[in-house]
Amino acid sequence: MLEKLDMLYDEISGCQKCPLALERIRPVRDTGDPRTAAVVFVGEAPGANEIKHGIPFAGEAGKKLNTYLEMAGLTRNDVYITNVVRCRPTANGGRKNRTPGKEIPLCGGWLNRELEIIQPKAVVTLGNISLKWLCGKSCAIGDCHGKLIHAGNLSIYPMYHPAAAIYKRELDGLIRSEFVELGRHLGRH
Ligand code: URA
Repeated sequence: MLEKLDMLYDEISGCQKCPLALERIRPVRDTGDPRTAAVVFVGEAPGANEIKHGIPFAGEAGKKLNTYLEMAGLTRNDVYITNVVRCRPTANGGRKNRTPGKEIPLCGGWLNRELEIIQPKAVVTLGNISLKWLCGKSCAIGDCHGKLIHAGNLSIYPMYHPAAAIYKRELDGLIRSEFVELGRHLGRH
């Protein structure tokens, strides 16, 4: 499995499917051991911090994610973390991160291939981008958060994106309780 994922990452590193390739220093490499991970987390796209460190969720949203993982009885070592989009979508001449748009259908195929290799027992989508990519455009995080969805052969727990709690602090308590519930589903407490 690890060899297949290495080969996939090599392919992603040479991807020219969208203009983000022109600005790419390197795609962000997914983290975690896919052979033992209790769950695969899927975010949306890397930002400046992730590109700098080369790993997903390396900035403020990552700190929030670590807190939520703790609520579920998990650490980063217990999970595999990836994104729908592998290069950093930017705005304002590269100064700002932006939500991915037209890159999603061009990049999302890499995620599908990655999940086919890993065959995860459970997937947690973080926010709307990964939820809609894996479960269909009619799914919205406001309706689906915290509820188990079966899509193809995947068992998916949609969760709010950790960054949502930075912008909307009132979501923090709800997200915490849903991660506690996730931990129960995974037999962590
Ligand atoms: N937000 C994401 O969705 N993914 C990252 O890797 C970092 C922030």
